[in-house]
Amino acid sequence: MTKANKNAPKKTTSSSIWGGRFAGGPSQLMTDINASISYDKAMYKQDIAGSIAHATMLASQNIISEADLTAICDGLAKIEQEITNGDFAFSDALEDIHMNIESRLGDLIGDPARRLHTARSRNDQVATDIRLWLRDAIDQLDGQLAALQDALMTQAQNHITTVMPGYTHLQTAQPVSFAFHLMAYVEMFGRDRTRLSDARKRMNEMPLGAAALAGTPHPIDRHQTARLLGFDRPMANAMDAVSARDFAVEFMAAAAICATHLSRLAEEIVIWSTDRFGFISLSDAFTTGSSIMPQKRNPDAAELVRAKPGRIIGDLLALLTVLKGLPLAYGKDMQEDKEPVFDAEASLSLSLAAMTGMIADLTAHPDAMRAALEKGHPTATDLADYLVRALNMPFRDAHHVTGKLVALADQEGCALDELSLADMQAVEPRLNTSIFEVLSIDSALQARNSFGGTAPEQVAAHIKATRASLAKDG
Ligand code: ARG
Repeated sequence: MTKANKNAPKKTTSSSIWGGRFAGGPSQLMTDINASISYDKAMYKQDIAGSIAHATMLASQNIISEADLTAICDGLAKIEQEITNGDFAFSDALEDIHMNIESRLGDLIGDPARRLHTARSRNDQVATDIRLWLRDAIDQLDGQLAALQDALMTQAQNHITTVMPGYTHLQTAQPVSFAFHLMAYVEMFGRDRTRLSDARKRMNEMPLGAAALAGTPHPIDRHQTARLLGFDRPMANAMDAVSARDFAVEFMAAAAICATHLSRLAEEIVIWSTDRFGFISLSDAFTTGSSIMPQKRNPDAAELVRAKPGRIIGDLLALLTVLKGLPLAYGKDMQEDKEPVFDAEASLSLSLAAMTGMIADLTAHPDAMRAALEKGHPTATDLADYLVRALNMPFRDAHHVTGKLVALADQEGCALDELSLADMQAVEPRLNTSIFEVLSIDSALQARNSFGGTAPEQVAAHIKATRASLAKDG
């Protein structure tokens, strides 16, 4: 963007697109605050696709001639090439992608270019472009989420019997498998995918042809344009069509939730890869060294994924704040919708790619996981359940007796299954050797065989069912 000179805001000539009633041009500051081309040029493909569909419809309604249509389509194809090749000169004075393209079309094909804007306005044009852009972005994010789920399931498949501490309050609670823990995230990312696809369904309605806000006297066929652009239908109310941005808010809300899920996994990766935990190692590809401490291997990618919700949630709040209290129909305030949307999308996409790489590359350390588990008396709940079953003890009493045995093991500095039967009988005389069967970590894992539980049989079935349903949905 051109740098503003605050002391001498200079006048330029009036806009060739809308300057009919203006004698002079806007000040440089007006141009600076008004221009969105620096970022909305990202939508050039969508803008061109929208224009081609609109022109096609205008021609089939005999609003423009076939010759004009051909000229418009050829010109737009050339412009798309120019932009893709980096040969297009964007201008701040032409404000945005819509006017930059239209003006260039005028240079290329002359008069027919001036007929393209019949029965539309930039208000319905921009709303259409963002919907088209987001639709593509969601499809791509969905593919990235599927790849992340796949990476998680590939790791999970190898660790169905790898035991680790399941935590509550980040204190050892019960044994779980590493696969079970990873599969929790597969579920979360599956819900993220459905949230995005729900948002996509609602956004797949077309604003184009709403014109400025009230529709148009030209005999247009919005159903045809909608079909050409792959929209389910034209939007039913022109004023809503140009004013609505809830689809963008919804996208960012879904993105914020997904980023929050990624952030939780990122934090676990940071914790698991510390030398205290040592549950996993990240690959060289996803760690960095320190410029001063040669021994360091820092999980920077995970830390950045952990941090990204800061800006994605910020993006969501930015647009909600712009929209709150904004009267219908279009206000220039709404131009502030694009940067948050683009930023949220780019941040989420990068986070997903980095997380998928980290997961695919990481090495799990089952011995370290088991050692951590053994320290935490993770089978205490199994012991209490055993007392209920074997001695018909009320659960509250069983909890109390188990607590005493845990205290005894702590006192002797050993695991529960390392206490002698005599020691245990001093706490509860009715105990016998069958107690040792429930104290083992592996049998505790096997025992949690309820649907959705951590037992290997359940987790293997969960992976299989998830893979089958993802293959079916494509
Ligand atoms: N660049 C504008 C935006 O993003 C396009 C719509 C302009 N409409 C208008 N009435 N000035 O919102």
